[in-house]
Amino acid sequence: MKHLQYLNKFFWKYRILLAVGSVFIIIANLFALYPAEFVREAFDAVILSINTEGNTKTDTSSILLKYGSLIVLFALLKGVFMYFMRQTIIVMSRKIEFDLKNEIYQQYQALSISFYKQNKTGDLMNRISEDVSRVRMYLGPALMYAINITILFFLVISKMLSISTTLTTYVLLPLPILAIAVYFVSNTMNKRSERVQAQLSSITTIAQETFSGIKIVKAFSNEENALQVFFNSCKMYTKRQLALVKIEALFFPLIITMIGMSTVLTVYIGGIESFKGNISTGNIAEFIIYVNMLAWPVASVGWITSLVQRAAASQERINDFLLLTSEIENNTNEQTPITGDIAFNKVSFTYDDTNIKALNNISFSIKEGETLGIFGKTGSGKSTIANLVCRLYDSTEGNIKIGNTKIENLNLNNLRTAIGYIPQDGYLFSGTVRENIAFTSDNTDEQKVIEAAKKADILDEITSFKDGFDTIIGERGVQLSGGQRQRLAIARTFYKNPELFIFDDCLSAIDATKEQRILQELKQESQNKSSIIISHRISTLKDADQIIILEDGQIIEQGNHNDLLVKKGFYYEMHQIQSNKEQN
Ligand SMILES: Nc1ncnc2c1ncn2[C@@H]1O[C@H](COP(=O)(O)OP(=O)(O)OP(=O)(O)O)[C@@H](O)[C@H]1O
Ligand SMILES: [Mg+2]
Repeated sequence: MKHLQYLNKFFWKYRILLAVGSVFIIIANLFALYPAEFVREAFDAVILSINTEGNTKTDTSSILLKYGSLIVLFALLKGVFMYFMRQTIIVMSRKIEFDLKNEIYQQYQALSISFYKQNKTGDLMNRISEDVSRVRMYLGPALMYAINITILFFLVISKMLSISTTLTTYVLLPLPILAIAVYFVSNTMNKRSERVQAQLSSITTIAQETFSGIKIVKAFSNEENALQVFFNSCKMYTKRQLALVKIEALFFPLIITMIGMSTVLTVYIGGIESFKGNISTGNIAEFIIYVNMLAWPVASVGWITSLVQRAAASQERINDFLLLTSEIENNTNEQTPITGDIAFNKVSFTYDDTNIKALNNISFSIKEGETLGIFGKTGSGKSTIANLVCRLYDSTEGNIKIGNTKIENLNLNNLRTAIGYIPQDGYLFSGTVRENIAFTSDNTDEQKVIEAAKKADILDEITSFKDGFDTIIGERGVQLSGGQRQRLAIARTFYKNPELFIFDDCLSAIDATKEQRILQELKQESQNKSSIIISHRISTLKDADQIIILEDGQIIEQGNHNDLLVKKGFYYEMHQIQSNKEQN
């Protein structure tokens, strides 16, 4: 239960809805309670008219009519207040659900990249969808029925006791058994339905992966295998679903049997009591109504308990995330202007999860307006340098300074706003071309979008699309070529107009002429801004003011293009190989 305490702040926020809702519950219950008395009065009136001479039929029927209409009226009023009760309590739960989802989403965005590597996307999605839904069942239905039951028990049982203690005791006997039985049944039901859900999401994952990778499945002629995996997963699903159906089938018969037993007891014990003259015949009818009024709530005690338990488990999982603090924290709220001077001083970095030492004792510095080229074999640590400059991770040893300030002491928001980073797998979001280019701004500047596209040398292609900048890209949109995707990602960065450009191998799929044009634009754009260009191609880096060559996380050569050629080292060798290739 302690995990659910986290939600109390929301109850406080919506206290008015909660209070008004509770009042509606009380009123609805009062309207539910009185009809039982009307039935007794009516019964007794009929019995009286049978037993006494001279009582005219019309008297009795007018009494019956009176109580009949009262019962209808009260039922209507009860309905009206039940409507209000839902409109307050359930609405409150939806509002809290909304708040909670947003809180989780915001927290997700605040957490660092390593958090995302430790958790599966599916799990993260579940927190925000399924877990929140379960918590909402506690906030809404469970809470509403709990208040309802408490009030109803209090009203009905005190009413019953005032009529006959003996009858009340006997009649209530089977009810606790009912509550416990329902608890176990619904608990098992929930567990089994969770297993069904888990299997369902595994089927979805299998299907989704096959569809996303359909090209490879077909090219490798792997359909048979894929089908077998899917088949097995579906078989398991059916098995689990049948197990669930078995227990579900038990639910209603159980409740009906228990209610039936209580009713039989009422008639039997009530009959005896009525013969003794302790109660009237009408009282028996009244009691039957009370018993039926109590039976469902008693059954729901078990149901509510299992709802609350599930909600607590879900909230525990949610809290695990909400109470996490990001490893990368913003250490200042002051505005810290970002300059283009960057210095790495003996920086080493080890990835926590894999324990791979990706950078080892790296030192270099670039002045504002300069371009740094990074060259090296795959896995040598190039992208890791970019990650550290963006502060997606903090260095393990050494320090990084931007201007004269250590990177940790800069305002994180200022830092990231100042950087135009194009990651190696320049991700595009599903949406229009325009939306992808103007990703960083709330109101799109059409002219700037066009200019950015032009600088990234993709304008012609965009205008040749049927819908131009409104062309939808992403899963169900136009399939862009690798080079087009890269240039769109570059346009996104030109649109942002940052203080520092980081191109992580994002020119690899672009032909040489286009590449040179883009680099020329970059030079224009970044006259007094710094840029870092990572590449496997020497032609991309040759104009950089400084090039570092990485191997296994260490700098093995450093200098400008000409210096490096003179050294006749690794860079020189690669230069020879690559320029030979170009000539052939
Ligand atoms: N997120 C990560 N978590 C754990 N290890 C990582 C991570 N990213 C990279 N590594 C490891 O760190 C080392 C350096 O990787 P990095 O991505 O910096 O190489 P790179 O030079 O950019 O390679 P490429 O040219 O293939 O892009 C590699 O051994 C890699 O396996
Ligand atoms: Mg890389």
